[in-house]
Amino acid sequence: MKIDLILGLQWGDEGKGKIVDVLTKDYDIIARFQGGPNAGHTLEFDGIKHVLHTIPSGIFHDNKLNIIGNGVVIDPVIFQNEIEKLDELKVDLNDKLLISRKAHLILPTHRLIDKASELSKGKKKIGSTLKGIGPTYMDKTGRNGLRVGDLELDGWDEKFEALTNKHLNIINNFNVDIEFNIDELKREFQASLNFLKKITFIDSEHYLNESINSGKKILAEGAQGSLLDIDFGTYPYVTSSNTTSAGACTGLGIAPNKINEVFGIFKAYTTRVGSGPFPTELHDAISQRMAKIGNEFGATTGRPRRCGWLDLVSLKHSISVNGVTELIMMKGDVLSGIEKIKVCTKYNYKGKNLDYLPFSILEENMTPIYEKLEGWEEDITKVRTYEDLPLNFKNYIHFLEDHLKLKIKIISVGPDRKQTILV
Ligand code: GDP
Ligand code: IMO
Ligand code: MG
Repeated sequence: MKIDLILGLQWGDEGKGKIVDVLTKDYDIIARFQGGPNAGHTLEFDGIKHVLHTIPSGIFHDNKLNIIGNGVVIDPVIFQNEIEKLDELKVDLNDKLLISRKAHLILPTHRLIDKASELSKGKKKIGSTLKGIGPTYMDKTGRNGLRVGDLELDGWDEKFEALTNKHLNIINNFNVDIEFNIDELKREFQASLNFLKKITFIDSEHYLNESINSGKKILAEGAQGSLLDIDFGTYPYVTSSNTTSAGACTGLGIAPNKINEVFGIFKAYTTRVGSGPFPTELHDAISQRMAKIGNEFGATTGRPRRCGWLDLVSLKHSISVNGVTELIMMKGDVLSGIEKIKVCTKYNYKGKNLDYLPFSILEENMTPIYEKLEGWEEDITKVRTYEDLPLNFKNYIHFLEDHLKLKIKIISVGPDRKQTILV
């Protein structure tokens, strides 16, 4: 038995939460392997719309295990809030949620450093979600971090105080104006830790490998998207973890030869929230339409998402660094009614045609080259079989499959669990 992965191929918000929820029935365990509450994964079913930040998207199913892996960073305050919302929906969490002892904790001062760092960058800010993700991963690689397992050891208070004081000095050095009440933040944090401690902590790499050996089926859920990967994304406008498939190995303790399918998920167009280059971005009636019909507002921060055409150059880059075996296309319904649909197949980079992602995709260096396809008029949100999709929609799918040399196995035509076509 092996493990399957699902990963976003663009700049996040591809619809990972929805598809993980749809696929959960075929798995025993759903495991998050990186990122933290910068993620917002939306699920819709039975009239309920729910956004998850740290908790894996298999949590609404009975008899399935959800594991927060060692590669995830956890903010106990946000986590408590998330659990309380699930309690309101009467989701039974008993024995369904496990947390890796090796997962790092986001301290209140990590959030403050994030804010100070962004303020100090001015116009060059990353557009971070300000959840403290970057500073927490910096402490992880700098070997200063605090982990969930530390809560079970002696000396927590001293470690927490020492790291908090170190952070307060760092914040001071930024020389920017941010207001906070450290005592209040500490109280809130300590209270949420008592809440966190009610969840079972495990040695997750051991647990997951034993599960694989005993024939359990595991689905690893990525957060963010490949173009936000710390190595292969549009650096420095990226997040601070490896969002690509290698991140599932380090973020769960799973060897590469245990990985089976890699499901790559993308929107039928492109969105990006936060700063950074976006070659196919539009600033016209079409992008406004995409934003409106696609409801393109960040699930975590509520910020409007930038919208534009599908970019096959960056998609090919993501497919290759992840080893994608099957594609999943979301939100094709949003393109209904657009007369001509453009797809970027190459970049003109400093005068030359390129079909791969170069070191820098800054606007001044390059322009996208498009192919035009006929759109479709029909509303497809009620279509449930591939056969019933409009011809021009199918032509769009074939064009992408030919270009990307992979099959699109799932087509999503609306936010609800049921609006999903398995090809
Ligand atoms: P994630 O971060 O990858 O899980 O994606 P988000 O939840 O942040 O953003 C995806 C958004 O699109 C959510 O609001 C979903 O409810 C919605 N969505 C997902 N699939 C579809 C689809 O096929 N069509 C439409 N119209 N909306 C979708
Ligand atoms: P999901 O899992 C979209 C973006 C932020 C910012 C950059 C760095 O829902 O797809 P960070 O908070 O990590 O310091 O922000 O990354 N970003 C996301 N964009 N979806 C996400 O997650 C994102 N998580 C972070 O907007 O540009
Ligand atoms: Mg999201």
